[in-house]
Amino acid sequence: MPPTRFRARACAKINLGLKIVARRADGFHELRTVFQTISLADELSCELERGRGVRLETRGLPVPPGGDNLAYRAAEMVAEALKLRGRIVLRLHKRIPSGAGLGGGSSDAAAVIRMLSRAVARPPALATQLGWARRLGSDVPNFLLGGTVLGLGRGDEVYALEDLGPWHCVLAMPRAQMQGGLATPEAFARWDNDQRGRGLTGGGESATLTEFCSLVDQVLPAFRQERNRGPRGPKVHAGIENDFLRGVLSISPDFPRIHRQLRRASAVWVGLTGSGAAQFGLFRQSGPAADAAARLAVIHQSWLTRFVGRQQYARGLRAW
Ligand code: C5P
Repeated sequence: MPPTRFRARACAKINLGLKIVARRADGFHELRTVFQTISLADELSCELERGRGVRLETRGLPVPPGGDNLAYRAAEMVAEALKLRGRIVLRLHKRIPSGAGLGGGSSDAAAVIRMLSRAVARPPALATQLGWARRLGSDVPNFLLGGTVLGLGRGDEVYALEDLGPWHCVLAMPRAQMQGGLATPEAFARWDNDQRGRGLTGGGESATLTEFCSLVDQVLPAFRQERNRGPRGPKVHAGIENDFLRGVLSISPDFPRIHRQLRRASAVWVGLTGSGAAQFGLFRQSGPAADAAARLAVIHQSWLTRFVGRQQYARGLRAW
């Protein structure tokens, strides 16, 4: 008999870079991005009981209820596809704020797909799970792989990259954003307006892909410890930027303040994740990362986290 009770650490992600190529005919935007899973995580359990339907119990930060919740929708979708009998009870301890660009809802949904896929005698192929993930949202497929992941298309075409090693990641955003954060569709609409205002129509896809891949090729190796030593420490200073950053920095003075504070703390890489609201600073050493997180926490919301590699990510889900 396959197991009927599971627990998962549904990790958040950051985008190490995010390039918007163009608005597509279907209204979505063609992206080039690199995802990285980090240790800030929701705790999610899933139990199959007698009965019917899906029940979602939550604690921690606020989450959308019922059918508005991606984990709930994932459970309904997978139960139907796998013809699961019984009631699915999801218990979610929410720690990843929504509207932060950290992919919390998407990670919960992917965790449900991963758990329910193990609740049947013949688990569905990864390609099948990726298909469900895509239908739920552009960021969900990334969380079926975990670690360092290249995202193309809507961000939903995912390719596993070699893990980048043990970086410390300080997240920060203005406290006011804990009440709901920034909406992704609006961020894309702002980008559209900006492009129109500048008389631009978006780059040619293949040229941009080549350009992005060569950046990934040049920049990501710099994150690997052995190739990242200069006389004064790590050498990573610039690379793939996030095309939402400029717009987010103009929302309120707190955003550029956080940006400057992370730079002053000597983070070797400072960036925006997704369409915001969280920014991150990457550190080689835990001491300076902890100092930066503590100093940011005086005024803003901040978290001290680490990169989670692919194997560690996979171990975060188990039957019990
Ligand atoms: O795929 P997901 O449901 O997460 O997308 C939410 C919204 O974000 C979409 O309805 C769309 O407005 C915008 N989006 C986009 N291009 C992407 C991803 C999302 O325009 N690549």
